[in-house]
Parts: sequence; C-alpha cells; structure tokens
Amino acid sequence: MSTQSGSNERFAQFKLVLLGESAVGKSSIVHRFVKNTFDDLRESTIGAAFLTQQITIPETQTTIKFEIWDTAGQERYKSLAPMYYRNANAALCVFDITNKSSFAKAQDWIKELKKQAPEGIVIAIVGNKSDLNDEREVEQEEIENYIQEQKSEGYDIINAECSAKTGDGVLTIFDKIGRALPVDEVIESNKSRQGGGISNRRTGGVDLSRPRRQQAGQTNSCC
Ligand code: GTP
Ligand code: MG
Repeated sequence: MSTQSGSNERFAQFKLVLLGESAVGKSSIVHRFVKNTFDDLRESTIGAAFLTQQITIPETQTTIKFEIWDTAGQERYKSLAPMYYRNANAALCVFDITNKSSFAKAQDWIKELKKQAPEGIVIAIVGNKSDLNDEREVEQEEIENYIQEQKSEGYDIINAECSAKTGDGVLTIFDKIGRALPVDEVIESNKSRQGGGISNRRTGGVDLSRPRRQQAGQTNSCC
C-alpha cells in the first residue's frame, strides 16, 4: 500500500484481490466497477487480470486507488492464488447466490486467508447475481449466521450482495472496503517516513457521492 496527501485531500493506494469459484462473476464485478460495462458471455479468466480504479470518500476527502487482481477461479489455477493475496490489503471472496457450493468455496477462501494472508487484511464475502433472486440457493439468514460465527471468533467480515449485471450494489462493496481500510494509519506512517506529505494527487475514478449515471467514462486504467 502507499499514500500521498495534498493540502486537504488525501490519497491512498491499496491492493485488492478477488477470489472465488469459476463463473461466480468476479471479472464481471471488476468490469462493472472499473468500466461500468457487463458482458453476458464473458470468457473465463486465464491466470489473473490486473485493473485499477479509484473511489472518493467525500466525508474525509480521501481518494483511494485500488490495484485489483482478478484471479481465475478454475481449479487448475488455484495454486497461483497465494501470489495475489500474499500482499493484498483487501480480499473479495465472491459467490453466486444461485449456487450453494460456491458459498462453501468462498468460505474456504476465507479460511485460507485467515491462515495465510497478511494480518489485518480486510475481507468481504460477496454474493453476486442478486438479479437472479428467484433462483436463490443461499439464504440471507445463512450468510448472516456465517458472519456472526466469524465475529464470535474475532473476525469482522464485510457482507454485501450485488449484481454485476445490473450494477446494483457494486460500488457499495468498494465503498465499504475503502472505509474499512486503515487509511489514516498509512497516511501518517507515510508522512513520517517522508518527512511530509506529497502533493500532486491524481484525479479521476468514482465519486461515491454522485449517482452512477454521471460517472460513465470515468474509468482509470486497465491492462
Ligand atoms: P472465472 O474467471 O472462470 O473465475 O469466472 P468469474 O468468476 O470471473 O465469472 P465471470 O465474471 O466470467 O462470469 C461468469 C458468467 O456469469 C458470465 O456469463 C457472466 O455474464 C455471468 N454473470 C456475472 N455476473 C452476473 C450477474 O450479476 N448476474 C447474472 N445474471 N449473470 C452474471
Ligand atoms: Mg474471471
């Protein structure tokens, strides 16, 4: 992670990884967030993909840039995942609300993160495809029970649902994660390392205080 802070504006950069079974919609969530697009016939990811996007937290005048690693869910790529979560500040463990086994798989990822990922990593469990609510196999109550169980073990897992297809809930996930990340801590430690803040903050990205409609075309970079 790295930070920059100008006069009133603050900037921090964090690494975020998406994990989850193949076809749950990880890439679709990322593309909705970064490019505001959706593809009904998205191809399965090979290896991993890297994209970036910024959000603004208006109350604290903080811009957060996410460096996003979208991993491949197919079993044959499983051994690559540690490479991406090893340095991650946040992880989205995604499941498909119409597929019960994908919920179990998301929980397996959380188990692995608790053992292997950096301490303090912000973890979210995200139910995607909320537009298919009629075909729901994973009930809200089941998810809530899991969250409570984790809480009793001392883990605060962020819980969110979204539809990459309609866009519902997608920005909220990144907003929740942005607010849970230790922005103040890293800005302070960065200042003391550098003997002051750095100005020249980048602009662009998603302003969460504005409706999504106004944000079309405001994507940052992707490779
Ligand atoms: P891997 O790259 O193989 O790990 O899969 P993935 O998790 O990245 O899934 P991907 O984004 O490729 O989506 C898989 C399929 O689900 C695609 O056909 C998408 O169009 C579809 N899909 C993704 N998100 C949604 C959603 O919110 N609603 C609906 N109805 N379909 C979705
Ligand atoms: Mg993918």
